Amino acid sequence: MIRCATIGLRNRGRALTREAQACEHIEVVALCDTDEQRLQDALQDAPGAQCYTDAAAVFANPDIDAVILALPNTLHLTLGEQALAAGKDVYMEKPLARNVAECEALIEAQNRSYKTVMVGYQQRFSKTACQARALLAQGAIGEITSATARWNRRAAAEFLWERGDWFLDPKISGGGPLIDIGVHKLDLCLDLIGYPNIDHCVAKARYGIGKRVGDKRDKNYAIEDALDAWLFTDGIDIRVESSYFRNQEQEEYHDIEITGTKGGIRLDGFGEATAWQVNDDGSITHIEVPEIKTHTALDHFADVLLGKIELRPTPEQSRDLQKIIDACYESSANGSRLIPLDAGVLV
Ligand SMILES: NC(=O)c1ccc[n+]([C@@H]2O[C@H](COP(=O)([O-])OP(=O)(O)OC[C@H]3O[C@@H](n4cnc5c(N)ncnc54)[C@H](O)[C@@H]3O)[C@@H](O)[C@H]2O)c1
Repeated sequence: MIRCATIGLRNRGRALTREAQACEHIEVVALCDTDEQRLQDALQDAPGAQCYTDAAAVFANPDIDAVILALPNTLHLTLGEQALAAGKDVYMEKPLARNVAECEALIEAQNRSYKTVMVGYQQRFSKTACQARALLAQGAIGEITSATARWNRRAAAEFLWERGDWFLDPKISGGGPLIDIGVHKLDLCLDLIGYPNIDHCVAKARYGIGKRVGDKRDKNYAIEDALDAWLFTDGIDIRVESSYFRNQEQEEYHDIEITGTKGGIRLDGFGEATAWQVNDDGSITHIEVPEIKTHTALDHFADVLLGKIELRPTPEQSRDLQKIIDACYESSANGSRLIPLDAGVLV
């Protein structure tokens, strides 16, 4: 049994604690948050766990094998480094860190420790992702030519305003909807299409609505409302859309569509995967989507630690993802200039 501690017990930390408790090979034996009330409340998810308000004390406990870090992005590097130096395996909530330099520092810390760092891109383990992976492996849609990854909200979810103000300041969070939600879709999209080498990107962020809404709530909304980007490889073109504020009809769009020389696949974030081939007359013939048994991201983490399965995503993939995100923000800040980059190829 892997004895695990969750550090950071608000929104995401509570959900991960429950997910960990449901894993066959993980037991949450310790909980940590600087906020005493949240710590006490989280005992509902892991009754009998040891309680800590100082993460250093968790790292010093030799009876703890692994830590789940569900902390503000600004703490991913520092607490991640401390956990690894103390010999703990780490399940790190996404993003790996706020920028490429911090990701590199974490990868160095991981290399020094010989411990595992798995980043919380749990959508890779969803049923639709596994179904799409199986169909793509069969060549069901032919050669992949383009992909769209999008997570657009019409207005920021209510819980985002309740998160600490760290979230609204790009210097602390690393950015807005692109690094927070768009990143999930981009990670999964790149994973499905085989992490091609991204040569260039161009991006455009918009601002204004969130600032106006935030002012009314006495919140300093300094992140983008929306960011859209094109990523170019020597074969597949990728469109990325992300927003907290976009005046669209639907409350939320949350999907990935991949098209190829024969047809396409769509993963609806709320529902099922669908796949089709396109006939010469433009009509489509649906392809049967296989039933697939899946496991959760934390089950995967446990299996990696037990030596049963290979780690994915790798920290290097998460670093490459961050290269793309940094380049998108750079492009947008420079009049949507085309930014050359070298991200991808690592599997
Ligand atoms: N994978 C996903 O779907 C998903 C969803 C939401 C959030 N996240 C990620 O999870 C992380 C946490 O997000 P959140 O919404 O739960 O944030 P949050 O601000 O709601 O919660 C962070 C918690 O960490 C605690 N904390 C802060 N500093 C601490 C310290 N030094 N030691 C111990 N505890 C400390 C805070 O008191 C708070 O309870 C972020 O990196 C976010 O990007 C991932």
